Amino acid sequence: MQIAERQLLLRDSNFVRILRLAAEAKGLISLGPGEPDFDTPKFIRQATKNALDAGKTHYSSMAGRPELREAIAKKFRKDRRVGIDPDKNIIVTCGSNEAIFLGLMSILDPGEEVLVPDPCFLSYIPTVEAFNAYPISIPLKEEDGFQLYTDAIEAAIKDPKRVRAIVLSSPSNPTGTVLKKKRLEELADIAIEHDFLVFMDEAYEKLVYEGKYHSMASLNGMENHCVTFQTFSKSYAMPGYRLGYAVGPEELIKAMTRLHTYTTLTAPTMSQIAGYHALTGSQGCVERMRREYDRRRKLVVKRLGAIPGFELVEPDGAFYAFPSIHFKKRGKKLTSGQFCEFLLKDAKVLAVPGTEFGRYGEGFIRLSYATEYSLIKQAFDRIEESAQKL
Ligand SMILES: Cc1ncc(COP(=O)(O)O)c(C=O)c1O
Repeated sequence: MQIAERQLLLRDSNFVRILRLAAEAKGLISLGPGEPDFDTPKFIRQATKNALDAGKTHYSSMAGRPELREAIAKKFRKDRRVGIDPDKNIIVTCGSNEAIFLGLMSILDPGEEVLVPDPCFLSYIPTVEAFNAYPISIPLKEEDGFQLYTDAIEAAIKDPKRVRAIVLSSPSNPTGTVLKKKRLEELADIAIEHDFLVFMDEAYEKLVYEGKYHSMASLNGMENHCVTFQTFSKSYAMPGYRLGYAVGPEELIKAMTRLHTYTTLTAPTMSQIAGYHALTGSQGCVERMRREYDRRRKLVVKRLGAIPGFELVEPDGAFYAFPSIHFKKRGKKLTSGQFCEFLLKDAKVLAVPGTEFGRYGEGFIRLSYATEYSLIKQAFDRIEESAQKL
């Protein structure tokens, strides 16, 4: 069978091998997951059941149910202090991943470029490549706290005419970094100067533990240069509902909605009804989960700090820690992949190699604390013991 060339470009992940090993391991503790361990709050599940019982199983309008778009616009006005039109500036999608895919597909012609601060969320680079465009990595450095600096962005722009966008997440998956206001302002200036879009992935917007969250969409002059991607998967623990959305310039949202019509058609109607209730109901559940993640974050920071061989930029958001690893075996420094394999076999703890998030992730591992507190404790007891063998 002949498979399209663009498929062959998609890299096989080293992590797949590690996951295979993990499936065989007994008594494993996983610090791998990229999804909340919490159940979806009860009132949201109840709203879903009610929707089913009421026979809400038909297609919705392409861009999303009007009441949901209205609720999103209200939330956006409140959180971002930006006025948006629910009929022109919003598309509701099957998770924010679909929205990012549609956004990139709508703007990219073959040979064009997208800037990608690296390490980054694992779907950005393959998605850009799938459209025969070039992802241009901007290396993020541990010593900069994984913040994005002007000189690094400018060094990556070789031919401004070819650069169509930058795609990035804040709070970041995998580093947990929240971009500082000054860094956002500098990036906004560059985007306006070179006329490219900022795809700001705010999947973890509600999971911020230190300081205030600053948003790209709120900055002056970004109305036509910023697309914001948000999701119900993390804040409301609804990953299986597959519900996300994009907020952006009218022309782009229109193009994305056209493509959406030929792919998923609409996000699931029951999920959209559940999402409406999530946004308009009490937000206490979001805060309760955030507080528990924060408690776990503090534990992870403390435990990593006590094990020689790890160095950590303290994460301010999301639910990940991204320490660098400095371990040797028989005099040779272990790579991220080798270290994760060692952890899996020796400690029976699953961690994700930093290389899953781009080539500048080498030398790091990602540990998720979307796992119960007591399990995180046990995992670190094991990691501590195993690390002493290196
Ligand atoms: C940064 C980031 N963006 C997007 C997504 C995709 O989320 P969704 O479930 O909304 O497709 C994830 C999921 O892990 C993520 O970490």
